[in-house]
Amino acid sequence: MTTTTNEDPNHRVVAITGASSGIGAAIAACLARAGHHVLAGARRLDRLEDLVADCSQAAAAAGGSITAYRLDVTDRHDVGRFVDAAVDRHGRVDVMVNNAGLMPLSRLDALLVDEWDRMIDVNVKGLLYGIAAALPVFRAQGAGHFITTASVGAHEVVPTAAVYCGTKFAAWAITEGLRLESDPSIRVTTITPGVVTSELADTITDVVAAEAMRTYRANAIDPDAIARAVRYAITEPADVDVNEIIVRPTRQR
Ligand SMILES: NC(=O)c1ccc[n+]([C@@H]2O[C@H](COP(=O)([O-])OP(=O)(O)OC[C@H]3O[C@@H](n4cnc5c(N)ncnc54)[C@H](OP(=O)(O)O)[C@@H]3O)[C@@H](O)[C@H]2O)c1
Repeated sequence: MTTTTNEDPNHRVVAITGASSGIGAAIAACLARAGHHVLAGARRLDRLEDLVADCSQAAAAAGGSITAYRLDVTDRHDVGRFVDAAVDRHGRVDVMVNNAGLMPLSRLDALLVDEWDRMIDVNVKGLLYGIAAALPVFRAQGAGHFITTASVGAHEVVPTAAVYCGTKFAAWAITEGLRLESDPSIRVTTITPGVVTSELADTITDVVAAEAMRTYRANAIDPDAIARAVRYAITEPADVDVNEIIVRPTRQR
């Protein structure tokens, strides 16, 4: 079974990293319920299995499916196996959503160097490993669509977010470079959320940054707003490349 992105916009094969909570879980649920075939990847398999249990029936009714896959994006080979698993199961991969991320905010002078490393490993290297895994498959298929979950932190820097914003500036730049280097058979979209309800702030260990985030995140919107943006981008006709969508709460300026 080999179809291309052009042929069946209602039944894309979509691999999503960081699908066990927040934005990734919302994207996985939204796309599966819309009849796409979703491979949901993350480290917490129990959470992924709960997601599959929640969505499977609606996905099947719409002609789609959802499968859980244990994945650590800091392991390049793991990411390769994730994409291979989608190809084994469905014969192709149409969309690679590089969404996994973490945000342990702190001021630089707190010197939480291990947390800087983790952000770089997941938010930057995890994205690169996703590109490395899917790009050869997209080339061989003659079609494919990359989605990167960046952040408004890819466009502005605030205190305590220097490293996080650095990783998101990098994610934005890598994704834009990928778009510029790609031929028209490959589409590339940056999804740029403002503040969205998720578990993202749970990774903050710095007390001052955690307190500041509580106020900031009070205006958060539902992650389904981001999922709808992804659904829109992937179901546009093949000659339309949605380059970037910024979705913020109306209260966020
Ligand atoms: N929420 C916001 O306000 C907001 C705003 C802008 C951008 N974003 C971006 O949105 C993306 C999703 O974050 P979220 O807000 O939905 O937060 P979240 O609820 O904490 O979700 C983060 C996801 O990343 C996964 N993840 C973390 N480390 C991983 C690893 N090593 N390997 C595989 N998966 C890993 C987590 O799964 P496991 O722990 O199970 O592995 C989880 O599924 C991130 O890139 C974040 O930077 C979020």
